[in-house]
Amino acid sequence: MIPKNVIGAGIDRVDGPLKVTGGAKYAGDVSLDGMVYAVPVTSTIARGNIASMDTSAAVKAPGVRIVMTRENAPPLFKGGNDYDDACQSGEDWMPLQDDEIYYDGQIIGLVVADTLERAIHAADLVETSYQSCRPMVDLTAALKKPDATQPATALGQPLQYERGDVDKALAKSPVRIDRTYTTPVQHHNPLEPHASVAEWSDDGSSLTLHETSQWVVNSRNSIARMLGIDQSKVTVRVLSPFLGGGFGSKGYAWAFSALTAAAARELGCPVKLVLSRRQMYSLNGHRPSTTQAVTLGSDRRGRLKATRHLCGTYTSKVFQYIEPVVLSTQLLYKCSSLRTGFDLARMNTGTPTPMRGPGETPGLFALESAMDELAFATGVDPIDLRRLNYAERDPRTNNRQRWSSKHLNECYDKGAEEFGWKDRPKKPASRRDGRWLIGYGMASATYPAQNTSSSVKVSLTADGRAEIEVASHDLGTGTYTILCQFAANELGLPVSKVSCRLADTFLPPSPCAGGSQTVASVGPAVIAACKNLLTFRKAGMPGEETVTIPGSQPNGFSWQSFGAQFAEVRVDAALGRIRVHRFLGIYDVGQIINEKTARSQVHGGIIQGIGMALMEATAFDPYFGRVMTPNLADYHFPVNADIHGIRVSFIDEPDPHFGPMGARGLGELPLTGAAAAVANAVFNATGIRVRDLPILPDTIL
Ligand code: MOS
Repeated sequence: MIPKNVIGAGIDRVDGPLKVTGGAKYAGDVSLDGMVYAVPVTSTIARGNIASMDTSAAVKAPGVRIVMTRENAPPLFKGGNDYDDACQSGEDWMPLQDDEIYYDGQIIGLVVADTLERAIHAADLVETSYQSCRPMVDLTAALKKPDATQPATALGQPLQYERGDVDKALAKSPVRIDRTYTTPVQHHNPLEPHASVAEWSDDGSSLTLHETSQWVVNSRNSIARMLGIDQSKVTVRVLSPFLGGGFGSKGYAWAFSALTAAAARELGCPVKLVLSRRQMYSLNGHRPSTTQAVTLGSDRRGRLKATRHLCGTYTSKVFQYIEPVVLSTQLLYKCSSLRTGFDLARMNTGTPTPMRGPGETPGLFALESAMDELAFATGVDPIDLRRLNYAERDPRTNNRQRWSSKHLNECYDKGAEEFGWKDRPKKPASRRDGRWLIGYGMASATYPAQNTSSSVKVSLTADGRAEIEVASHDLGTGTYTILCQFAANELGLPVSKVSCRLADTFLPPSPCAGGSQTVASVGPAVIAACKNLLTFRKAGMPGEETVTIPGSQPNGFSWQSFGAQFAEVRVDAALGRIRVHRFLGIYDVGQIINEKTARSQVHGGIIQGIGMALMEATAFDPYFGRVMTPNLADYHFPVNADIHGIRVSFIDEPDPHFGPMGARGLGELPLTGAAAAVANAVFNATGIRVRDLPILPDTIL
């Protein structure tokens, strides 16, 4: 039967049965003949030098095959720092090559044994002494002496930016909001820990890596470089067919993968390394904390005359990561005088890295909280305030360039209607149900639409089946399913007759599964390959077609997704407990490909937003610099009992100027603005404005 409306339909995940029956093999599930187990030895100080390492007990422990330290480690080389060339490592440095300690939990050794338990035991037996110094883990103090090179741009956009004359416009503004907001360190915490299984061919001519990777092409190139491998002589293959989440932490390549491969090369047998949850708080990135000064100037009716957004954040001692916090402020509202600034400090922490909605997420907490403060100060309804300052065109281009498609006003309208915004308590702390104070809040959401060149191979068989092959990824988001939908739709096949192979560097190359770009990058290539199959061959005849599609070329439009987020909170007046009673998100992301996987992914983003607002924070010991919350008991995020009444709607309008399907990315958008919607609702409920996340009970008592 020819499928009808396969694009947009809420089709079940094609990989669902494999996942719920245990048939999906994740990197950490891979088990090979003769395989041994690696466990990193990690530093217990955050800054200083290794004085000595005594490995004698570990070497003699049962089952131990090798103990690698700076004394005997093979030479390893720093990975690439070139995103565009798919050679991007998380750190600009390699462990076991020198004595210096830059952060808590840094790898200082690797123990390999015949069982995991024996490797853990032997790693505990390594005795390390240090010359330690006082580490820098306090952002405010670190910003007083920025020793990092100050970056001018992020993602090709200026961080230090000015249009109009902000100081003059602020001086003339009758209403001013001038506040500082802070966001804490947050960790990705994918359910699946990072893992690497390395196997060399007997003659050393090929290396196969089973990796937790959001970008297998990058893992291949970066890990090869770390190992000093010439890829024209040695074949490196990276596989990552299933991922249990990543949220950005599995995008760049990390040193432990190269160490695993180096150990396998030394020992001549396959080696598996799975990071412990504790190690995942040091070795695979995090979202850095921020301090953000936002100044808004408006007339008495709330029309913005001036905006200033200055962000301080940090990177590690071993990599210049830039959390691009202020970029969304430059485009979200119409405002002729606007300045953004950016200060980067360096701290003794593991390296920060992109984490779901990097930049927009902390940035919109500050901007959208400040907009709520402006609404309160002017007495203008928060939605009306946003409509009043609506950017009909891209403000970064002096309002010259049009959006490819923007339905943010419809998001506000639809959201207000569905949420019952007109019933919101007009005065803070004015509505109560027994001991519960009730408040409504809202915020805008925005995230750029991106895509990158991708190749895809599609094959048709004589019995009327199609197979898609591409080195793209499914983080749990639904890539397997939506690519099958594209091919089914083009070829006139039922989805059940299409299969898909992903995340293997032997397949046609594809970009990072990051930046919410997979649908818009890989989808067009699948469509083009299918069209060629139908044009050049008779439909239904066996054949195969490989195509490479470039990313969208500049076409005179700005590509951006938008949304409106609404929260109702209930605050226990006696105990300060905060519950998000209802949450509604309305999103303008162009064409929806699969209503079910889209909704499911957006639910996840909203839950992360609620976590950001109320729970998530990584604490460092201020004196020793150690991570104090390196587990899922001390690092809090929402569980089912915390989540109530999430509703999601899409403005399902294809974008006429972005890609062949008009589908912009949607993965990261829902986290942007979500924490501000909750914080604004807390203010409406209690009259207390909390500018420092997370909003804990004691902050409102
Ligand atoms: Mo994402 S933070 O682009 O995986």
